[in-house]
Amino acid sequence: MADLSLLPPSAIIDGPDLRIGGCSLTEAAAEFGTPAFVIDEQALRDRARAYREGLAARHPDSRVCFAMKSFPSASMVSVLASEGLGLDVVGAGELRIALAAGADPAGIVMHGNAKSDEDIRAALDAEIGYIIVDGFDDIERIDRLARQRTPVLLRVSPGIESHTHAALATGGKASKFGIPVEHVPAAIARMQAAPMIDLRGLHAHIGSQITNLQQFEAEVAAMATLGKFPVYDLGGGLGVRYEPGDVAPTIEEYLEHLVTAVHRHLGPDVELIVEPGRSLVAPVGLTLYRVLTMKQSGLLHVAVDGGMGDNLEHSLYGQRFTPMVIGRWDEPEVLADLVGRHCESGDIVTPEVMLRSPQIGDLVVVPVTGAYCFTMCNNYNGALRPPVIYCYGGVARLGVRRETQDELVAREMGLVVAAQSAR
Ligand SMILES: Cc1ncc(COP(=O)(O)O)c(C=O)c1O
Repeated sequence: MADLSLLPPSAIIDGPDLRIGGCSLTEAAAEFGTPAFVIDEQALRDRARAYREGLAARHPDSRVCFAMKSFPSASMVSVLASEGLGLDVVGAGELRIALAAGADPAGIVMHGNAKSDEDIRAALDAEIGYIIVDGFDDIERIDRLARQRTPVLLRVSPGIESHTHAALATGGKASKFGIPVEHVPAAIARMQAAPMIDLRGLHAHIGSQITNLQQFEAEVAAMATLGKFPVYDLGGGLGVRYEPGDVAPTIEEYLEHLVTAVHRHLGPDVELIVEPGRSLVAPVGLTLYRVLTMKQSGLLHVAVDGGMGDNLEHSLYGQRFTPMVIGRWDEPEVLADLVGRHCESGDIVTPEVMLRSPQIGDLVVVPVTGAYCFTMCNNYNGALRPPVIYCYGGVARLGVRRETQDELVAREMGLVVAAQSAR
């Protein structure tokens, strides 16, 4: 029988169909087309509440800021803002999306390892909660551009080599993010001498897809060696299950561990911020594809109507997924590469995976694609960026529509559209 444990909690098999949030995925595919991102909105809200209420219960002076990079859509921001979450944005672009969604600027922190004047100006104009200083140049830029004292946190690179894919580790000694601990005293001295800078505290984020909670305690302990501050932002990073054999801590377990470490090393009287991305949104999202073709060359290649255009996780980090063929719940399994339609041999959704009797035209669902897939959508081979469908109480609501062919050429100057379409 099909293992639904990687799908959002509302997933149920309904004969040859699969339902999420009471909505038929067969009907959603017919109405909105494929590929498409599907979000279980109730599960999303439940996870947001687990974070916000779980943190507030353990440490009232706290804020959960959704790491917007993991799903930078106004549709996502508006749901999470309605659940009382703040935001972590990177640069003026994400800030623009956040403000368009109606997010409260006071609950926003801005990151960026290479911020431009434009980024800083946008943060200052919006009067966001904190700008996160990532290097000495940020200090100079904020001090030059600000018209009033501006609250900032200093991002430190705590020298922790997290046990995750190298591309997801951000807190190690050679990281491009933050200031190495040995330079922190100089950075603090520089900020104390800068009239427009109001240093309130420290920030660290040691990486993503971290399932060993000890690493978060090591992060907190490293922060405690840098002096006492009123505010600590500990970033995000909690990992999730992608395959049936994976084990990942729950949000509750993570918060319990983190807050215990904070009280032990930093004390109970600090303002605490966390910035979850993946662990908030990955498990509540899935991608819906249709099988376009199958080819036996060495291994069976099952090719769907998306791929690198909507999911770069395998090509960037070697991330594996657990796809399911909708409706073929009890049929025999075959070993196949689930590939995309883009002109790269590396265009693989997941290699060497067991699929149940896939046929051309079948719908394939890839669970746990709610983080960093929408983020990196692109137009490779003229792919149209997919829609985002929120399923809730039996209603499938379009949060983001599919891109159009006209949008593919919308930024091109000097088109000869009329001549082309006349041919
Ligand atoms: C500063 C910062 N905060 C939060 C996050 C979110 O991390 P995750 O999606 O692993 O929770 C990231 C992502 O890398 C980050 O760079």
